[in-house]
Amino acid sequence: MLSTILCQILALSWWQLCMVNAYWLMASNNILTTQRLDPIVNPGQVSTHVHSVLGGSAFGPCINTITLQGSNCTSVPVQQDKSNYWYPDGSFTSVSGNAVMYVLVPVSFSYYLFDDSSNSTMAFPNDFRMLSGDTTLRTLNASSFAQQAVTFLCLQFSGTSNRYNELPVGVRCPAGIRSQINFPSCWDGKNVDSPDHKSHVAFLSTGPDNGTCDDPQYPITLPRIFMEVYWITQDFDNQRDQALTPSQPFVFANGDPTGYGYHADFMNGWEDGVLQKAISGCNCNPYGDPTCCVDAGIFSFNQTSQCYISETVDELVLGNLSTLPGANPVQAPCFESYIATSTPAILAPIYTYTTSTASASAQLPSGTVVTSAYTIQTAQTAVGTCIWKGAASRSWNAHICFRVAVILVVSLWFLL
Ligand SMILES: *[C@@H]1O[C@H](CO)[C@@H](O)[C@H](O)[C@H]1NC(C)=O
Ligand SMILES: *[C@@H]1O[C@H](CO)[C@@H](O)[C@H](O)[C@H]1NC(C)=O
Ligand SMILES: *[C@@H]1O[C@H](CO)[C@@H](O)[C@H](O)[C@H]1NC(C)=O
Ligand SMILES: *[C@@H]1O[C@H](CO)[C@@H](O)[C@H](O)[C@H]1NC(C)=O
Ligand SMILES: *[C@@H]1O[C@H](CO)[C@@H](O)[C@H](O)[C@H]1NC(C)=O
Ligand SMILES: *[C@@H]1O[C@H](CO)[C@@H](O)[C@H](O)[C@H]1NC(C)=O
Repeated sequence: MLSTILCQILALSWWQLCMVNAYWLMASNNILTTQRLDPIVNPGQVSTHVHSVLGGSAFGPCINTITLQGSNCTSVPVQQDKSNYWYPDGSFTSVSGNAVMYVLVPVSFSYYLFDDSSNSTMAFPNDFRMLSGDTTLRTLNASSFAQQAVTFLCLQFSGTSNRYNELPVGVRCPAGIRSQINFPSCWDGKNVDSPDHKSHVAFLSTGPDNGTCDDPQYPITLPRIFMEVYWITQDFDNQRDQALTPSQPFVFANGDPTGYGYHADFMNGWEDGVLQKAISGCNCNPYGDPTCCVDAGIFSFNQTSQCYISETVDELVLGNLSTLPGANPVQAPCFESYIATSTPAILAPIYTYTTSTASASAQLPSGTVVTSAYTIQTAQTAVGTCIWKGAASRSWNAHICFRVAVILVVSLWFLL
């Protein structure tokens, strides 16, 4: 009973946390960087959409465990965790001049959940990386564990928050929206990556947050990473009437206004042996407090050290912009691949900045251009049936998309 209550206070459902024996929770001290990079999906290139990145300062277009271990700081409190975690940014879409206003994201949490009753959980091997979610999804398949892995909470001050499989439509969330994503935690034991960055891992047997690794193809149990991101959407509620779709005015950096295309990436950068010691030896209290790992000398925990890096991609990604970076069109209820015709320059060197002042905003110097803008061969124009071009230029097909979105609102109201 007590643990049930405590788990509820931690705002996770009891079965999500209390069915496992141990976990720890870490709130990122800050966002390391926000830019159009994705070293798993687009290594060495500017990626299709903007991500916010947490973790080790060695993040860049090409990373592996060894480079990440060389990070001079990390934006997560576990100082030995120089892994990177990243997810798409969020914006508010406005009809007036297609303006896009960035939604501030102050807090993200990562949970590491594992079974500590026996030494059955194995730490991520070197160079292990994975992706959860699918940037191309704009519809829900409710029976897919991979899609159940992504959820959204509409936060109320009272603490009674409704859970959705999509960005909540037709409702305001007075305390903001929290996106949540589970990573797969069963591994094939052989491959540190796979072409889709997913098929070397699998979800647990009975759901993304429940069950065991009983599929013989994926016999190895890894720690389960669960990430939450708090989006300060309430600050935009009084501007909803200026939005393209006031019932749900927010859009992820990949052009997804539904939330079904939400995703997150993980690249292992743990210092050698630390994670294994933590999952074998941190028999902490059941409430996510990692103090016992610190007391046992397994890792150090610093909640005031902040870590930032300067930009690699020479483009503005925060503030009021005329389009989403990468010119991603807002797309629903379907998805069409869209690649911008031009790509910004690459800068070097990258500067690292550390501070312990919570309010300090990093004033990093900028690198100089090492690769000037180049054009991707497969250029495309945003003309498809899935694309919203904004009110002024909304095409007939886009109008259909808009009406489908409205129908979605109606049916959701019905479900509530
Ligand atoms: C870490 O700092 C050292 C010394 O300033 C520097 O040589 C090295 O390049 C830095 N590493 C990274 C990944 O920035
Ligand atoms: C797990 O293995 C470590 C190292 O071998 C050992 O110290 C610890 O007691 C084991 N834990 C359990 C619960 O068996
Ligand atoms: C939905 O997901 C289930 C489970 O992964 C799968 O078997 C089924 O084929 C999917 N349905 C569609 C329409 O993709
Ligand atoms: C978790 O799995 C067990 C069986 O392994 C099942 O009985 C239970 O309903 C599941 N719980 C949830 C929340 O899915
Ligand atoms: C945490 O990090 C900050 C900034 O690097 C440092 O000033 C402070 O001493 C550290 N605190 C602990 C307890 O290590
Ligand atoms: C962005 O645009 C909004 C609405 O026009 C305005 O209120 C806000 O001050 C602008 N923000 C910045 C950083 O320019």
